[in-house]
Amino acid sequence: MSITFSDDYLLGKPGPAYFFQRLVWSYAITGTLLAAVRVDLFTALAAGPASPADIAARCRTHPLNTEKLLVACAAMGLLEKDGDLYHNTPFADRHLVRGRPTYQGELVEHLGRQWTRWVEIDHFVRTGERGPQELAEGEMMTHLERQEDHRIWITAMHNVAMAGQAEALADALDLSGRRLLCDVGGGPGTYALVLCQRYPQLQAVVLDLPETEPVAQEIFRSFGLEDRVHFRVGDYLQDTYGQGNDVVLLSGVLHGETVEDCHLMLRKAYDSLTPGGLAVVQEILLNDEKTGPLLPALFSLHMTYGTSYAGGEIARWMAEVGFTDVEVRPLKGYAWLNGVVVGTKR
Ligand SMILES: C[S@@+](CC[C@H](N)C(=O)[O-])C[C@H]1O[C@@H](n2cnc3c(N)ncnc32)[C@H](O)[C@@H]1O
Repeated sequence: MSITFSDDYLLGKPGPAYFFQRLVWSYAITGTLLAAVRVDLFTALAAGPASPADIAARCRTHPLNTEKLLVACAAMGLLEKDGDLYHNTPFADRHLVRGRPTYQGELVEHLGRQWTRWVEIDHFVRTGERGPQELAEGEMMTHLERQEDHRIWITAMHNVAMAGQAEALADALDLSGRRLLCDVGGGPGTYALVLCQRYPQLQAVVLDLPETEPVAQEIFRSFGLEDRVHFRVGDYLQDTYGQGNDVVLLSGVLHGETVEDCHLMLRKAYDSLTPGGLAVVQEILLNDEKTGPLLPALFSLHMTYGTSYAGGEIARWMAEVGFTDVEVRPLKGYAWLNGVVVGTKR
C-alpha cells in the first residue's frame, strides 16, 4: 500500500515547519514549470494520455529526466496519472497548451528570462544597479533577439489579460455612453479590445512604442476589431494623448515610471479628456501600509527601476492633478493587476 505524504510544506498552508521549506524551494517550482513549458510538455499531452517514454519521444527529450519532470509536474498539480499514463489537469489544458486562447506560455517564458535578475537581486539591493550578469546578457543580445524579447513581453501582457484580467477590469467599470478610449502604453491592446467588445459604441486608440505595433496589430486582427481599435505610435512621456477622449486607460504603466512622470502622465490624461471623462489606472497595488500583498511586493523588486505604488498614493496624485470622485477599487477574480484607481474630470 502506498503511503500518503503531505505536500503542505510546499503547496499547502504555512506553518512553523513548512514555512522555511517554502521559502527556499519556491524557485524550483518556477524552474520546473519553465522547463515543462519550454519542452512544450502540456501541448504534447493535449494529444492524449501518454507514458513517460511516449512523452519523451513527442517532446524529443531525455527519457529518464522526462519522467522526473512528469513526476514533479504531477506533484505540482499540473498533471494526473492513470495507471502508467500521464494527462493534463483541466488547468494545464486551459493555460499551458499552445494555441488555447488563455495560453500563458509567453508569460512563463518572459518571467523565465528574468531569472538572472533574481539570482543577482542582492546586487541591486546593495548598489541600486542591475547585476553584472544581467547587464552583460543584455549587451550581448542581437537586434533580432531584442525584437523577439519584446514580442514575448508584449504577448505575455496579452496572456495576463486573457486569463481573466480583462474581464475583471471590464466588470469593475461602467463605460455606457462613452465613445472614445485612449489606452496609454496599451501594449497588445487587449483591454481596449475587450472593452470595445463589451461596449459596441466604443472606439479606441492604443498609444505605444513603434516596436509594439506589429504584435498589437496581429492581436487586433485576431479580434476582428481593426476598424474600431487603432494603433498610434507615440511616446507617452513626450506626446499628447489626443483630444476628446471619454476614457483614458493607464494600465500597468505607472509602475514603470518615477513619481514625477506619473504626475506628468496623469496631467496629460486629464488634458486629453472631455468634461465628465474618466481616467482609469489599473495597477499592481501595494496596500497603503506597505506590508504587502506578496505579489505587488515581489513585483516591485522584480521591476528594479520601477516600483509598485499604493492605491492611496495614486489616488492622491489624481486628486492633485484635478480629478474628482477618485476611488480605489479592488479587482475581483484573476488579478495580477489587483486594483483600479478611477477619477473623473469635472
Ligand atoms: C507593462 S506593459 C503594459 C501594457 C498594457 N497596458 C497592459 O496593461 O497589459 C508597458 C507598456 O508601455 C509601453 N511603453 C513603455 N514606455 C513607453 C513610452 N515612453 N511611450 C509609449 N509606450 C511606452 C511598453 O511598450 C508596453 O507596451
